[in-house]
Amino acid sequence: MSKIYLVGTGPGSAEYLTSVAFKTVKLADVLVGSRRALDLFPDYQRDTLELRALNMDEMMEKTVELAKGGKTIVVLSTGDPGFSGVLKSIQRLAENVKIEVVPGISSLQLCAARLQLPWDEANIMTLHGKGNSAPILEVIDNGKPTIVLPDFRVHDLAQFLLDNGVDPGINAAVCERLSYPDERIFRGSLEEVTKEEFSYLCVMVVY
Ligand SMILES: C[S@@+](CC[C@H](N)C(=O)[O-])C[C@H]1O[C@@H](n2cnc3c(N)ncnc32)[C@H](O)[C@@H]1O
Repeated sequence: MSKIYLVGTGPGSAEYLTSVAFKTVKLADVLVGSRRALDLFPDYQRDTLELRALNMDEMMEKTVELAKGGKTIVVLSTGDPGFSGVLKSIQRLAENVKIEVVPGISSLQLCAARLQLPWDEANIMTLHGKGNSAPILEVIDNGKPTIVLPDFRVHDLAQFLLDNGVDPGINAAVCERLSYPDERIFRGSLEEVTKEEFSYLCVMVVY
């Protein structure tokens, strides 16, 4: 029976991998993932498919074809597969293929932990890859913290909020490169975020 496992690999460092993730990877005939996810399994010796921003659709289709051909496929998804991860695209393509999701620690969970922010009532959203940040305006002033994966650069999102009338003095935090040795937690006002340089690997909180 064809099967695709979607395995969450956590925010980046191998310390946040679960033992069930390791066990599941051992079942793979083909391991699929971004370079940074594949690098977490240096001992894996069989076939791999590397996902890149520009070959995503093609690789997802190939993954489903391989599974239909009887291969056991493990698709690695950084963080958790169900939050801005591969679950949605695989579900769209994989009719008649069994799917199993192995959860991982999401970047948003580690962000909330670093900030000691309870997130049970937070607005949680991803703008990643959407090309439109407008949905955040629907929730930003509802009195709850907002934890968001930016569409692209975090200071562009902060500027977008300022341009749309959000208070420049509101508290903001940026959690950058979580779990990596150069992790940085920035706390300041929304306006201060627009003046800082951040890499693309960031979670932003407005609260
Ligand atoms: C395609 S989404 C994947 C999200 C992932 N499924 C999760 O649950 O964390 C990629 C975005 O997640 C965020 N991200 C992933 N890993 C991160 C990390 N280690 N530190 C900060 N943000 C991270 C960044 O906003 C990045 O652009």
